[in-house]
Amino acid sequence: MSFYITTPIYYVNAQPHLGHAYTTIAVDVLARHMRQRGADVFFLTGTDEHGEPVADAARAQGVEPKELADRNAAQFQSLMPRLEASNDFFIRTSDDRHKRRVQQVLERVYDNGHVYRGVYEGWYCPRCADFKVENEILEGNRCPIHEIELTRESEENWFFRLSTFQQPLERLYEERRDFVMPGRHYNEARAFIDSGLQDVSLSRARLNWGVTVPWDPTHVFYVWFDALLNYYTALGYARPGEDLTERFWPATYHVIGKDILKFHTVFWPALLMAANLPVPRHVFVHGFLLGADGRKMSKSLGNVLDPFEVIEQYGTDALRFYLMRDVAFGSDGAVGMDSVRSRYDAELANEYGNLASRTVAMIRRYRDGAAPAVGTDPALAAEFEGLAERVAELLDRAEATQALELIWQRVRRLNRYVEERAPWQLARDPGSAAALDQTLASLAEGVRALSVLLHPYMPASTARLLEAIGSPDTGYEGAAFAALGGGASVGELPPLFPKRA
Ligand code: MSP
Repeated sequence: MSFYITTPIYYVNAQPHLGHAYTTIAVDVLARHMRQRGADVFFLTGTDEHGEPVADAARAQGVEPKELADRNAAQFQSLMPRLEASNDFFIRTSDDRHKRRVQQVLERVYDNGHVYRGVYEGWYCPRCADFKVENEILEGNRCPIHEIELTRESEENWFFRLSTFQQPLERLYEERRDFVMPGRHYNEARAFIDSGLQDVSLSRARLNWGVTVPWDPTHVFYVWFDALLNYYTALGYARPGEDLTERFWPATYHVIGKDILKFHTVFWPALLMAANLPVPRHVFVHGFLLGADGRKMSKSLGNVLDPFEVIEQYGTDALRFYLMRDVAFGSDGAVGMDSVRSRYDAELANEYGNLASRTVAMIRRYRDGAAPAVGTDPALAAEFEGLAERVAELLDRAEATQALELIWQRVRRLNRYVEERAPWQLARDPGSAAALDQTLASLAEGVRALSVLLHPYMPASTARLLEAIGSPDTGYEGAAFAALGGGASVGELPPLFPKRA
């Protein structure tokens, strides 16, 4: 089974921040999970380098756009390993190989009769690089996203006949209720389509930082079309000497934030139809991370959570866990350093970390570091029954927070199990040796199975734990709680999530 998943490509006019880290981590969790299940996975991320915002930022700094793009793209590229992102490729839209393929696809759209020349006049947001339609503009002609004043602009453009895709899009939405997920965003996209589609600018005349329009070299393509096509162009050259398009197109999931819904759920499928290409299976829309005060994060409000500070203080796995756990994936949610700290202390250090340490320490102390190879506790096993399947079902729908919650209930269950069975008491009574064996085998097996399930969320710590308990395999077959536990030799395990002062 092939599984192609993408993040949006990030604008290079800003430094990497929490929003970028969030989308990347979520996609990485899904990609790693599908790899565990043996899927043929391709995970794409990258940078969106053309357009007015980058050209403007470069001008303000007195450098060429390419220089600014190179500098900032390098920052995004180095972000990936810091997040433990397992992306298979990093695309940059200033790459000639991308540009050539953009031209080929859009030339086909032109040849298919979906492009014409006309004059565009409208309200334009330079930060969005987007013209706004009347019903989305805020009072005082301000941008609904940036709240800055829009400018009235008119120019001669090439237009994409979006309006002729009204019915094909209606049909797509009718036939595929899961085209956009979660449901409320499906409704939002559908309402936008139902309100009547207008043609959109495909090119810009006054900009030269972009992909040249092949049939009119005085224009460059409007950056959103160039950017959206990254999902397609990358497959053509990501692996030298190989074209991955057949193998991975169309994408299984484009994961995006809700601010870029219209482009991905309306323009994008229409453009693909115009180019005779299959449309993606799903667009998954996540919410916004808000400041701890519930307001949009902004430097001036001082409510920004800095991902690098979290990584420095708590580690990458803690950041990944926190973001997937504290904000329901698909909804908005407030985040802040205080809640990072309390999740870390209460859940990572005291629940999972402690469970791991106790299990390892008890096996070493009471059984000389060999997990007893005896049957596990059937009552406990019953509580794990079907867990791996349910987690897989949830993650098939990108429900990353719910899947994590199901796993976490079992982490808590195992901690209660330790208390119920009190192995330290069993160890004092030679007549309880079999009960102690069963307890330790069950704990070892429980911790192992849960760590396999948690691996996509916290790849480094779970790998350390699995290594220490002698079962380094992270494949999904190992996610089930087995009847026979133990057998492996258990080594030392320094605290996974050290308690902090
Ligand atoms: N370049 C476009 C995407 C083109 S895709 C063909 C873009 N880039 S972006 O850098 O501005 O944003 C990238 C992603 O980060 C978006 O999905 C956006 O929703 C997400 N986030 C940016 N700030 C965010 C939060 N505060 N919270 C959650 N995600 C947000 O848009």
